Amino acid sequence: MYVLGIETSCDETGVAIYHPQHGLISHFLYSQTDMHSEYGGVVPELASRDHIRKLVPLIQQTLADSRLLPAQIGGIAYTAGPGLMGALLVGAATARSLAWAWQIPAVAVHHMEGHLLAPMLEAHPPQFPFVALLISGGHTLLVRVDGIGRYQLLGESLDDAAGEAFDKTAKLLGLGYPGGPRLSALAEQGQPTWVFPRPMTDRPGLDFSFSGLKTFALNTFNACGKTQQDKADIAAAFQTAVSETLVIKCRRALQQTGLNSLVVAGGVSANKQIRHALGEMASKENAELYFPRPEFCTDNGAMIAYAGCQRLLAGHHQDLRIFARPRWPI
Ligand code: KG4
Ligand code: ZN
Repeated sequence: MYVLGIETSCDETGVAIYHPQHGLISHFLYSQTDMHSEYGGVVPELASRDHIRKLVPLIQQTLADSRLLPAQIGGIAYTAGPGLMGALLVGAATARSLAWAWQIPAVAVHHMEGHLLAPMLEAHPPQFPFVALLISGGHTLLVRVDGIGRYQLLGESLDDAAGEAFDKTAKLLGLGYPGGPRLSALAEQGQPTWVFPRPMTDRPGLDFSFSGLKTFALNTFNACGKTQQDKADIAAAFQTAVSETLVIKCRRALQQTGLNSLVVAGGVSANKQIRHALGEMASKENAELYFPRPEFCTDNGAMIAYAGCQRLLAGHHQDLRIFARPRWPI
């Protein structure tokens, strides 16, 4: 069965086709980043309008690239949440309408399930069970994964998500949007001369809190000379603090569950320092570490096509209602 996957939860329009035996057939992504960067962040109304403009042409492009006819598509998967309501509705309404027109099932996919299954698209996918660290712009979650749909939340951020903390810290350093990659690039020119806290690591548990790091960065910035080198050093100190905090919590999650596989996914998993630090920890713990390829760390249609395909194979699908949930626990 060929499954068409559609992602429109935030500022990327993603479309892909996946087949359980033939793998990923085709995938395309249109990023709205340039449009939103003028405003310093994602403008929800502009995001919805741009998805409306780009989604149908992107579906046509993906179909043409795959050389498949619409009649060969066996199911449609769409991101139903969490995300921006208007943006989600564009994907959900388009997917639901196409599925009705083509008389095939449509399945609603949880965006974070898409992220956590993204490493399954790689040549050496992880085996269940594993621990997943999901670090994106909207969420920071540690999850025990025993199979498709068998998720146990081990810990989460009590305030800002890791990506949100990157974006807000980048903004206060005047780096603009998108903050995460820009802060990360600047950090490479700095040294972590300031010591930032490692929030919530001095007590048991697997929850996170990143909003204090952003405040710490602001106070440090206001108290220093504000030179380019100061900014780079603050970026490096911030990134090191996030990275070491994630390492401590992941090590704890592996020890607590007794599992020896760790999956790391979501936009922040593209960060080089974080990937390196988690790699060192995993080898010391004799654990296997899995990442999606960098282009599938951030939002994309391929992960939704994959997750939706697994759901459809397990017999899940939605009725004719358009299903969109801006807030949706995993
Ligand atoms: O998963 P994603 O594309 O969208 C959400 O589901 O939120 O993640 C986007 C987040 C943003 O906060 C972005 O700044 C962050 O991932 N990000 C990074 C890097 N690349 C993207 N953060 C740190 N370092 C990066 N290289
Ligand atoms: Zn995402």
